[in-house]
Amino acid sequence: MIMAEHTELRPNRFTTWSFALLTGYIVENHHNYIRAAAPVIAGHLAAVVHDHGAAHPELRKVQTVFAAVVDDLNQHMWKEENILFPYMRDMVAARHEGRAPMPAPFASVSMPVARMMADHEQADDELAQIRDLTRGYVVPGDACETYRACLGALEEFEHDLHEHVHLENTILFPRAVAFEQED
Ligand SMILES: [Fe+2]
Ligand SMILES: [Fe+2]
Repeated sequence: MIMAEHTELRPNRFTTWSFALLTGYIVENHHNYIRAAAPVIAGHLAAVVHDHGAAHPELRKVQTVFAAVVDDLNQHMWKEENILFPYMRDMVAARHEGRAPMPAPFASVSMPVARMMADHEQADDELAQIRDLTRGYVVPGDACETYRACLGALEEFEHDLHEHVHLENTILFPRAVAFEQED
């Protein structure tokens, strides 16, 4: 119930936040969550593949896809944190200060935004593969505690990515594109 209330309240609250606050929140809350959760899940997966891989051969595939999505997300977050988010914050500061925004390797913010949205789709597809491989994160009858924890953590990881992508795709990115066009 608490989760449902939060998801309903959040979009309204976030639409009033500055670029600095919103990008800071995304990094602190979602990017840092990925950085903290990924090695824990990878560790669970290694143990579960070792103990249950023979009875559940799909676990090895889950491990491979998870490593791929983490690699993709690390590169993606690097681009957001080092190029796109600083550019968005500077775009606002530059408007206030009456100067041109910082030099950027793109002609319009809509270009990196489109690339980031394509990355989001790719990560979403990879996590959907994991959902399918685990039949919706259903815990098998022969699972140990680590297996159970691993599936729970994978489900949480997908849920967090959905919230994260929702914030960027529907609030942050459209606002940045609109702000640039107001110029
Ligand atoms: Fe992000
Ligand atoms: Fe993103």
